[in-house]
Amino acid sequence: MSKVVIFKGSPRKNGYTTKLLDQVAKGAKSKGAEVIEFDLNNPGIRGCQGCFYCRTHDGCAVNDYLQPMYKAIAEADAIVFGSPIYMYQITGQAKIWLDRTFPMVEELPHKFIPRHAGKKLITIFAQGSLDPKKGAEAIKYVNNIFNVFGWNLEDCIHYCGTDEEVFNELSLRAFKDGENLVV
Ligand SMILES: Cc1cc2nc3c(=O)[nH]c(=O)nc-3n(C[C@H](O)[C@H](O)[C@H](O)COP(=O)(O)O)c2cc1C
Repeated sequence: MSKVVIFKGSPRKNGYTTKLLDQVAKGAKSKGAEVIEFDLNNPGIRGCQGCFYCRTHDGCAVNDYLQPMYKAIAEADAIVFGSPIYMYQITGQAKIWLDRTFPMVEELPHKFIPRHAGKKLITIFAQGSLDPKKGAEAIKYVNNIFNVFGWNLEDCIHYCGTDEEVFNELSLRAFKDGENLVV
């Protein structure tokens, strides 16, 4: 059975990012995938403590809500990440999570070696402005980090504004993305 792990970076349970992520989950489940979700707005999440445990171990020393995600990622076939654009960046909640993904790479002098490469990846972003350039730098930044992890970007959805028709089209695309995650 395919395993999909979804990271939800919006505090809005009924916002665009969450809805699009839910469509990916629906698509994946419709093809029989097991879907595990992490709400990055959970108050039980601590930021990276900079202890460098993950430089010598494949894991994290912080024992909190996110701790089960390391096993979930290791076992996953696909990773899905979504965040709104806040102040031209991903949300603070999503950034705190991103720091906690440092165990995804082992560090050799002058290079990072992925510990959990080869996952399929979908990324999803929503922003208020109609101008996609506003969120473009943040999206490039996040997708580049996932690329260092060896995760293969299958689709990147960037919803700009509030147009319902555009949103409905992207919802369908997100559902299909979810279906396509399942081999
Ligand atoms: C604190 C904050 C900062 C924001 N900064 C931006 C921004 O820099 N650019 C932009 O286009 N929209 C910005 N927005 C608007 C959100 O991106 C927009 O409302 C988006 O739809 C939220 O995603 P969600 O519906 O998934 O929660 C901001 C919203 C908040 C609350």
